[in-house]
Amino acid sequence: MIKKGIKIRLMEPKDLGAVAEIDQKLVNVSRLDYFEEKFELLFKSGEYVPTSFVAEDENGKVIGFIMGKLYIGEFGLSNEGAAIDSVGVDPACQRQGIGDKLMDQFIFHLKQLDVKKINTLVDKNNHQMMSYFDAEKFKPSKTVINLERSI
Ligand SMILES: CC(C)(COP(=O)(O)OP(=O)(O)OC[C@H]1O[C@@H](n2cnc3c(N)ncnc32)[C@H](O)[C@@H]1OP(=O)(O)O)[C@@H](O)C(=O)NCCC(=O)NCCS
Repeated sequence: MIKKGIKIRLMEPKDLGAVAEIDQKLVNVSRLDYFEEKFELLFKSGEYVPTSFVAEDENGKVIGFIMGKLYIGEFGLSNEGAAIDSVGVDPACQRQGIGDKLMDQFIFHLKQLDVKKINTLVDKNNHQMMSYFDAEKFKPSKTVINLERSI
């Protein structure tokens, strides 16, 4: 069922607590420090274009988020690619179209900035995330692979 009264808006520094709280519900551990660092980088460094969004319910409560990264390099905006850093919807509100609305707004915004490609890393074993990105028309990259080495 599609949830009604959902508003998608640009993420603001004041959303840190709500975002970290949703993340904690998703990963069962508090990563507030980690999100503090991310927020610092995205909002205060001046090196990134705002491309992150939150979803609010009809009472203004933040129930989902998508954090994007679009670097303003030394030579100005790189329109080659943006990245999705993290995405999360409160477990109580999942499967109601909120993740889809967040992605729609994110893509709409990036298209206006003339961005041509979005990439993200997903754990292949995370069925939920794989299904979500598949539903959002993401495909495995033809040109880039993730190399790793156990040491
Ligand atoms: C993945 C996630 C963002 C999707 O958000 P959502 O609001 O539930 O997504 P939507 O309702 O818009 O679903 C869009 C499509 O994604 C797919 N999908 C979403 N959740 C799914 C699930 N649990 N199983 C299978 N497919 C799923 C479906 O194709 C769905 O379309 P449908 O409902 O019409 O079948 C959300 O479930 C989530 O936050 N998961 C945890 C993510 C996480 O662990 N993040 C780490 C912290 S950053």
